[in-house]
Formats: sequence, C-alpha cells, structure tokens
Amino acid sequence: MKLDQLTPQQFQRFRDFIYMKSGIRIPDTKLTLLSNRIRRRVTSGAWSDYDSYYGHLTSTKGTSELEFFFDAVTTNETSFFRTAAHFDWFSTEFLTNRVAQARRGERPKSLRIWSAGCASGAEAYTTAICLLENKYRLRGWDLEILGTDISEDALRIAREGVFRPRSVEGVSEVQRKRYLRETDDGQWQVRPEVMEPVSFQRHNLMTPPPKPAFDCIFIRNVLIYFDTESKTKVVQHLIQALAPGGFLVVGPSEGLYAMLDPLKRHSAFLYEKCS
Ligand SMILES: C[S@@+](CC[C@H](N)C(=O)[O-])C[C@H]1O[C@@H](n2cnc3c(N)ncnc32)[C@H](O)[C@@H]1O
Repeated sequence: MKLDQLTPQQFQRFRDFIYMKSGIRIPDTKLTLLSNRIRRRVTSGAWSDYDSYYGHLTSTKGTSELEFFFDAVTTNETSFFRTAAHFDWFSTEFLTNRVAQARRGERPKSLRIWSAGCASGAEAYTTAICLLENKYRLRGWDLEILGTDISEDALRIAREGVFRPRSVEGVSEVQRKRYLRETDDGQWQVRPEVMEPVSFQRHNLMTPPPKPAFDCIFIRNVLIYFDTESKTKVVQHLIQALAPGGFLVVGPSEGLYAMLDPLKRHSAFLYEKCS
C-alpha cells in the first residue's frame, strides 16, 4: 500500500486530536514530518488509509493504539547532563541546603524528585548520579526519583537504561567508569546502583500530577510546542505537585516565565514554592 502525505484536512484533524489529548501544538510546517510518523503506524497495522486509522484512534477501541500513536508523534531527544548548570545547582546548592536543613531538624532526611517529560530517562539517571556523588552526606536518606512521560516507548527504553554514545557525551570519563558500563555493541548501560532510586511511569502532564509532593521538579525541553492555554494547565499541575520549599527547574525554551508568578524566581531556570 502506498500512502502519500496527509491532506490538509487530515493534517488538521490529527493536529486537533494531538492537541486535545496532549496539549502539543504541531506547527503548520510539520506536515511532512507528521505524515511520515503517522504513515509508519498505519502501515504497521491493519488499516487501509489515514482515515480508517483516525476512525480507530478516536473510537473506544482505539485506547491501546493511543500509546503507539504518541510514541510515533513525540520527539524524545534527551541526553545526560543536558544544560549542565541545572545539575551543578542541584548537586551543590540544593543538596547542601537540604542536608543543612535536615541536620537542624527542619526537614526529614528524604527527597522526592520528578523528571517530568523524561523521554528515555537520561534526566532522571543524571539526577541519580548527582545523588550518588553526594552519597556520604545522604547516607540513611530516603531517595526517590520518578520519571514520567506520555510515550510508553520512551519509558520502555528508560527502564532498560541503555544509551547511545551520543547521549552520554556529557558524562565525564571518571563518572562513566563509576556509573555506566560499556556494552559489547558500544552502547552504555546504567549500573544497578544508579537505577535503584529511579522508577518510571506513564503520565500525561495535562492531567493531575502524581502524589505525594516533590522537593524538586525538572521540566525541560517538553513544552516547546504547547500553546499558552495548555502550558497554563501544566504549570498549575506542577505548582500543585511541588512540596512547600520545593524547586522547579525549567528548560531554556519552555516559555513559562510569565506563568510562574506564584513561585519565587531565583534565576531564569529556577523557581521556588515558598512555604
Ligand atoms: C525532548 S524530550 C525532553 C526530555 C528531557 N526532559 C530532557 O530535557 O532531556 C520531550 C518529552 O516530553 C514528552 N511529552 C510531550 N508531551 C507530553 C505530555 N503531554 N505529557 C507527558 N510527556 C509529554 C515527550 O514524549 C518527550 O519524551
């Protein structure tokens, strides 16, 4: 079966559907990209054309296909220590303050971190590496890192913890030896102690956040294609998910600055929920 590009009407229908379900706004310029990605789904299944696929996707029987659909249409690019300054802050200032507060009895010895829109998990594992680098002062602490994404495919890769060389370029030689293992086919496997505090679950950021609240949330390179209305909804969920005194770390292209008024701004990337 040969499928051409989506017609303008079909393109519009799929875009509206993606927006309604995820908040992702596909730009006008992405007709070819979206056609190629949806074509892969259509030809892999029992559908004869885009319209019958759309009909299935939007019917009650299409619920299980939704996961594959979002796997196909989302961009899951990620890497370890992406925007390194965020992890410098996390490893030094954030952890130093938390340890000091715990020593003074102002906080419990626990941390819950959320990598929201984690793709294949590099952000969550980078956070785990930062915690391991501080393991002596965090001895006896209860540490949890949750990675969530709308794409089940990305989460499957995340749970395996195997990465291409390009994804780990930001990991220093010393840290690679300590926290990763090179596989026979030149990939990089995350070591068990890095995986230990990390779990992954499917979650759509347009829906209410996971509980209990988090001490630090990373939301980076996720909301680029969201419009203002969808971003506002996601921001409400993120603020709701932050524990008092918790921090939100925002990516360079999220475009959220104007919406983060309820939080205290420390810098362009860092916001605090004051108690
Ligand atoms: C480019 S990756 C960013 C990964 C990581 N945060 C980083 O900065 O390296 C964006 C991820 O956001 C996810 N995403 C997009 N819309 C989402 C939604 N509504 N709910 C949850 N995840 C979403 C995509 O599936 C994709 O894996």
